[in-house]
Amino acid sequence: MEKALPRPVAGTPFRLTGTRGFPTRRTLLGLIPAIACFLGIWYGFAFGQGIKFWEAYTTNRLSPQAAAAVSRCAHLHDKPGPPPNFSKRTQSDRYVPGTKPVLLKNAKIWSGEKNGTEVLYADVLLDKGIIKGIGRTSLKLVKGLKEEYEVIDARNAWVTPGIVDLHSHLGTSPSPGLAGAEDDNSIHGITQPWLRAVDGLHTSDDAYELSIAGGVTSALVLPGSLNAIGGQGITIKLRKTAERSPTAMLLEAPYHLNTSFPKPDGPLRWRQMKHACGENPSSYYGNTRMDTVWAFRKAYDTARQIKLQQDAYCAKVEAGKFNEITDKPYPEDLQWEALVDVLRGRVKVQVHCYEAVDLDDIVRLSNEFQFSIAAFHHAHEAYLVPDVLKRAYGRPPAVAMFASLFKYKREAYRGSEFAPRILAEHGLSVVLKSDHPVTDSRYLLYQAQQAYLYGLPESLAIASVTSTPASIVGMDHRIGYVREGYDADLVIWDSHPLALGATPKQVFIDGIPQLKKAYVTHKPDVFQHTPDVPNYDKEAKAAVEYEGLPPLKPKAAKTGTVLFTNVRSIFIRTEDSVQESFTGQDTKLGVVIVKNGKVLCSGTQLACDVASLAGDAEIVDLKGGSIAPGLTTFGTALGLVEITQELSTQDGFVFDPLTQKVPSILGGDTALVRAVDGLQFGTRDALTAYHDGVTTAITAPVGAGFYAGLSTTFTTGVLNKLDDEAIVQDVNAVHVTIRHFGTGPSISTQVGTLRRLLLNPPQGQAGEYFQGIVDGRVTLVVNTDSADIIATLVLLKKEVESLKGNSISLTVAGGLEAHLVAKELGEAGVGVVQLPARPFPTTWERRRILPGHPLVEQNSVETLLKHNVTVGVGVEDEISQVRNTRFDIAWLALDAGGSISKAQAIALGSTNVDKLLGGKAKAAEEYDLVATEGGDLLDFSSKVKAVISLKRGLVDLL
Ligand SMILES: *[C@@H]1O[C@H](CO)[C@@H](O)[C@H](O)[C@H]1NC(C)=O
Ligand SMILES: *[C@@H]1O[C@H](CO)[C@@H](O)[C@H](O)[C@H]1NC(C)=O
Ligand SMILES: *[C@@H]1O[C@H](CO)[C@@H](O)[C@H](O)[C@H]1NC(C)=O
Ligand SMILES: *[C@@H]1O[C@H](CO)[C@@H](O)[C@H](O)[C@H]1NC(C)=O
Repeated sequence: MEKALPRPVAGTPFRLTGTRGFPTRRTLLGLIPAIACFLGIWYGFAFGQGIKFWEAYTTNRLSPQAAAAVSRCAHLHDKPGPPPNFSKRTQSDRYVPGTKPVLLKNAKIWSGEKNGTEVLYADVLLDKGIIKGIGRTSLKLVKGLKEEYEVIDARNAWVTPGIVDLHSHLGTSPSPGLAGAEDDNSIHGITQPWLRAVDGLHTSDDAYELSIAGGVTSALVLPGSLNAIGGQGITIKLRKTAERSPTAMLLEAPYHLNTSFPKPDGPLRWRQMKHACGENPSSYYGNTRMDTVWAFRKAYDTARQIKLQQDAYCAKVEAGKFNEITDKPYPEDLQWEALVDVLRGRVKVQVHCYEAVDLDDIVRLSNEFQFSIAAFHHAHEAYLVPDVLKRAYGRPPAVAMFASLFKYKREAYRGSEFAPRILAEHGLSVVLKSDHPVTDSRYLLYQAQQAYLYGLPESLAIASVTSTPASIVGMDHRIGYVREGYDADLVIWDSHPLALGATPKQVFIDGIPQLKKAYVTHKPDVFQHTPDVPNYDKEAKAAVEYEGLPPLKPKAAKTGTVLFTNVRSIFIRTEDSVQESFTGQDTKLGVVIVKNGKVLCSGTQLACDVASLAGDAEIVDLKGGSIAPGLTTFGTALGLVEITQELSTQDGFVFDPLTQKVPSILGGDTALVRAVDGLQFGTRDALTAYHDGVTTAITAPVGAGFYAGLSTTFTTGVLNKLDDEAIVQDVNAVHVTIRHFGTGPSISTQVGTLRRLLLNPPQGQAGEYFQGIVDGRVTLVVNTDSADIIATLVLLKKEVESLKGNSISLTVAGGLEAHLVAKELGEAGVGVVQLPARPFPTTWERRRILPGHPLVEQNSVETLLKHNVTVGVGVEDEISQVRNTRFDIAWLALDAGGSISKAQAIALGSTNVDKLLGGKAKAAEEYDLVATEGGDLLDFSSKVKAVISLKRGLVDLL
């Protein structure tokens, strides 16, 4: 730990006039400035040093209490920050003795310098926990190094600083989630600045290792958002420590950690404070926004009163009126000291805040009480009110966002994927954050990639998860850059960091390599360069113009005939898979002619006789793009829900006969509800998905327990339920869930119920459908993850089949532990729709995930495929993520390094999903096709331009 030099005090804290209390000292004190000044100059120090001298001098001659007061008040205006000689350190305070130095050769380094535009081709020496040197000649770097060192040849791989997550609940909300370790929200008061996240920081959280595998090296762990003032956050490094304690994980913990009030003359370190406004704190406490803001003002007023008392006290000390403070301690209060520190500019205030009204409220609060805001978090409407942010006290806050996760509540309804670029255009600092485990911080870089895709410049996109958050958290003197003297936190990537699927080959924290062995695949050259991305200028403009709700209604081509030119590849559905049917060469790209939604011809210009169209066709230049089957999504309540957290915008929950009395008017406990009856068309998530190539959705009713009901298939791009093909298939499959439901019925009870329904189908509607399952006509979908439950289902399937003599069609939805019984599933013919595509151990029942590269050789989808299990992938819970299906399947193909072809990847998100969820087989051309510009459906560089629909007889231009 380096000790800071006392920092110069701004202004003259001790005005030596009117010292009525101590007339005898008057003359002496009057001399002090002269002496101090003289000595200050004599020592060549700044004037502040003279003050320190004065302080030392007077302190010796005062009563102990007065001396303490002088000392205390001398530092009243100190600000946190590293000591001025910090950059000269030769060893990190986090250095672990015995860590071998590492010489990293031939790295392509994104350094963070020059506003994130600098790329260095250099060698880097890591030693004593810091970056010892960066240079072209490694000989020079290692000169003088006494101990043995390790050499790693990066072979021109991209190297970035470790990823810094500005908003995490790692450790305080550990995974798998268990009730005994939920420590991120206190519900004992709306303003509790005295609470500290560090007091609930668990060191066992499966996510530490997983997030490191995504390149995350540091995180700001914040209390939850159920309080207006939730408490103090803490910056951690994610690596395991020898001590195994939370304390050992902390990065520059404030000196308040071990003591109520730190030494007044000690150096200061940045503190962090969580605030939240809007729905969360308001709804939890049954408040309106008016109540919440009053709670803030009341708390800040309490802090302000204490601060004023302190200022008054110090004014007396300054004035030498020591008799007025005799026996009066310095005014302070342990409960409020952190908030007083906010008012003294010593705390980074991190505010969870979404809507214009909330942002405006907090900006007013910051001006009323004069404290600055480090960042607004989530802030889905910030891009609509940049001027409000610029009005904040001090300096404009940064904005810490999700890239594409929004609409989940009213506050997030106007969120836009273009927000990062728009905010950057307004000169505001942009950060992408995980809110882990809300999103898996392992994929924080993926959020930066998406921000880049939608227009945030490359330099700012990488900075948004490295140097920018490092600065917002007050740690940019040591993390967030590849810079000499900085912490040795680096990531070596297998591709350009903004290329989809970028995976660490190695991660260093404090110079310690974190991956014992990294499984990565060799990626093609194109992945080593800045990815090409489409132009979204028009869409970004519309996002602002329509205040986050731009029209999404697809427009059908006016002419019956559409000619797609410059087509590089065509993928088509076959009976039960996807094949690449055409691959053009650069010099000979293909064409596709479509009439009323029917593909008349595809292939070369010559073969299709393009000349004969004679100008009747609308021409869509795909610029090396592709035609592929539209994707099918499953796993969310898409079509049943507009805003997840607004009950009035959704279908609602079905009754669960296992725990509730189902009204007899509905058919009692044999009723089986159909999702099709509750479908809403034209939800924003459905239309957005359509714009991103997900043309079809299969949705089951939303259940809160064992029973869900009957799923349905619909077209995402249709606005009217009565339109042709709005509903593709009324009823798909029967859905049940077998999981631990808190204190609900046991797993054995749920399995017993399923057994009874299969072996003794009841009367009524449920009976009909369960008889259909037993007869092999209807698919049974069981939502579950646990390998044990899945194995039980395999046994149950065999039992039913041997008793009834038919093969039953069973699909597991979820299935994150299915890989453990892959062989048996393959043999039993049980398919899996994995939810989500990239697994995370949210709950105990899915703790045994197969996490993919770089941690294991094979991901779960690959493993299942290798055992001949039919696999589909879907999206879980977050409806707004359906649009990213094409990237989910692209990621899986990349992660598999060639063992999953593009066509197979498309099948994972289309044909396989249809088949596994009871989709009735149709002729291949009955399914919609998607045309992409500038690349195929799986490319980051592509943009969906059209949907070709034979069944609807049209081409939608997007
Ligand atoms: C920085 O200054 C402090 C106080 O003078 C001193 O103790 C420390 O050794 C210095 N550190 C370096 C790296 O020079
Ligand atoms: C970085 O950006 C800031 C703000 O746009 C600008 O003032 C500064 O000159 C830039 N610095 C470099 C090195 O490009
Ligand atoms: C707090 O105490 C622990 C244990 O003595 C020590 O390791 C740590 O450095 C202290 N932290 C601070 C910020 O003073
Ligand atoms: C999967 O199916 C293929 C083709 O039917 C067969 O050759 C292979 O042995 C099967 N693999 C396993 C693990 O069952």
